[in-house]
Amino acid sequence: MSDLRTLFGITHPIVLGPFGGLSSVALTAAVSNAGGLGSFGLYGYDGDRIRATGSELRAATDRPFALNIWLPTGDEVEPNPQHTVFAQALQPFYEAVGVAVPTRPERYVPPLDEQLDAIWAVAPAVLSVVFGVPSPEVVAEAHDRGIRIVGTATTVAEAVALAEAGVDAVVATGAEAAGHRVSFLRPAEESLVGTFALVPQVVDAVGVPVIAAGG
Ligand SMILES: Cc1cc2nc3c(=O)[nH]c(=O)nc-3n(C[C@H](O)[C@H](O)[C@H](O)COP(=O)(O)O)c2cc1C
Repeated sequence: MSDLRTLFGITHPIVLGPFGGLSSVALTAAVSNAGGLGSFGLYGYDGDRIRATGSELRAATDRPFALNIWLPTGDEVEPNPQHTVFAQALQPFYEAVGVAVPTRPERYVPPLDEQLDAIWAVAPAVLSVVFGVPSPEVVAEAHDRGIRIVGTATTVAEAVALAEAGVDAVVATGAEAAGHRVSFLRPAEESLVGTFALVPQVVDAVGVPVIAAGG
């Protein structure tokens, strides 16, 4: 098993959790500059915004940092347009305050390929993912570019699936963790293992470093 510090090129084995849509360049860079691994959540970011964020991060730190994405969960494009139903139901309330009813967007978040192209251009030390197992193509592309890839597990089975896919480290995120429950093999409500139970079991089950999340 390799050491997380050697793997990521950091001094302290401490990783800042990414916050999709709420990450800040200042906090990410501060953690990296202090010798940990700052992570920046790119949920909802298009290619241009990812490239711009990458430039800002490079200006703020010359230390390794991670970029984080959500793998597709199936609601990027609305399968059966609930938007119209809700918009019609809420129309009187919009009218009452003089605001136009929002139109249904074509997509709710940018396509994964667009995000990945921009991430390869930024070339972070680490790419971390939630909500699934990265495809063999994504793992190979990251590795060809010298980028470490990290997956996120809420159960032992998910950690094993990620390790088998060739990730370099696994985040074991316990039921206490804030934010979304990023389960992908079983529903989130059936994947509520607490951090102190989950972490040692994941360590036993996989041969890559394990990062504990969820205090
Ligand atoms: C508002 C919010 C947004 C988050 N967004 C992401 C995200 O996009 N990607 C991710 O990997 N983790 C995300 N997380 C999880 C955190 O990075 C972290 O792993 C989790 O909060 C566990 O740490 P804690 O116990 O210190 O809260 C989010 C958490 C919060 C509270």
